[in-house]
Amino acid sequence: MEIRVGIIGAGSIAGTHARILAQNKRVRFSSVFDVVRERAGAFAETIGGQAAGSPEAVFEASDAVYITTPNAAHQDLAIAALERGIHVFSEKPMATSLNGARALLEAAERSRALYQIGHNRRFADVYKCTRRLLKEGAVAAYSVHIKMNRGELKKPHWVADPKKTGGFLYETPIHLLDMARWLFGDVDSLTCLARSNVYHELDDFSILMTFVDGAHATFTSSAHASWLFPFERIEIFGDHTTIETMEMDKVRYSPGNEQESLMYDFTQKHWENRWGYVEENQRFIDAIVSGGQTPVTALDGYKSIELVEACYRSARQGERITLPLTP
Ligand SMILES: NC(=O)c1ccc[n+]([C@@H]2O[C@H](COP(=O)([O-])OP(=O)(O)OC[C@H]3O[C@@H](n4cnc5c(N)ncnc54)[C@H](O)[C@@H]3O)[C@@H](O)[C@H]2O)c1
Repeated sequence: MEIRVGIIGAGSIAGTHARILAQNKRVRFSSVFDVVRERAGAFAETIGGQAAGSPEAVFEASDAVYITTPNAAHQDLAIAALERGIHVFSEKPMATSLNGARALLEAAERSRALYQIGHNRRFADVYKCTRRLLKEGAVAAYSVHIKMNRGELKKPHWVADPKKTGGFLYETPIHLLDMARWLFGDVDSLTCLARSNVYHELDDFSILMTFVDGAHATFTSSAHASWLFPFERIEIFGDHTTIETMEMDKVRYSPGNEQESLMYDFTQKHWENRWGYVEENQRFIDAIVSGGQTPVTALDGYKSIELVEACYRSARQGERITLPLTP
């Protein structure tokens, strides 16, 4: 079965997905659209397919479409594709508002086509290893510390514009808000403090979360921390046990006092594998071929937006917010 794949937004992450998809014998690139016409042309020349003059032209030529534009355009493009019965892989976030995410969730439920959201970290070795250790009962998560920093909001140029991103939480920390759900289950309530310090939007966050299953977590995020390693880390504390992740590179596990700690080191794997991009693309194509469910669904995308919105609501209102939210 050959799958005709189109691309909308011929930028940096589209290049990553395309390089990986090009290795998949079931994929044929159909067409590429970008608001900057020359980018679509250059992209099509490198990966194959035709440069298209509009998103509709991409839809017409494709069985599946990758939406890799800046954030604010994701929702409408995804809904348009799903309404035409075209499978969608959308980069995160699925939308830049709760109402937008709800509309997209409903469109995905109505459509016969599949939808996958690009929470690539679910396929990253460090997080798969962490989830396995938790499932095996190596650590019963009582309390958790999560950090997800970004070095700057300068590259690409649009990431400091909340009209394009939805706000910093939609752009970067959404990855680990989704990861918190994936590792510890649904969030019951949260409190968020935030301030605008360096950029013209809220750019420093301190969040306290409780999970339905009883664990609680702190989550901190700064948009301007410099790229000091590890800019992303999760520490999980159990009964004299700890799991600690270091970006997408390593997991350290302490099974108990006076015992040797174990280190899982993924640094020698190619970064496209280590960051989960290879498996998320493979699983999307597999789901289309098998007619099954995608591994990260529209509901997962919606729930990550709900967490982002709960943080912004709490920061603005100065109140603890209980989930699920009413739109
Ligand atoms: N999952 C991840 O790890 C990851 C990593 C990087 C980026 N992303 C996400 O991918 C998306 C793209 O990020 P990027 O770094 O590739 O950005 P980029 O600026 O490199 O590329 C975006 C491209 O989209 C084009 N574009 C803008 N508006 C468009 C529209 N309405 N229709 C068609 N094309 C349009 C731009 O001209 C540009 O070529 C963002 O949503 C970002 O959050 C995810």
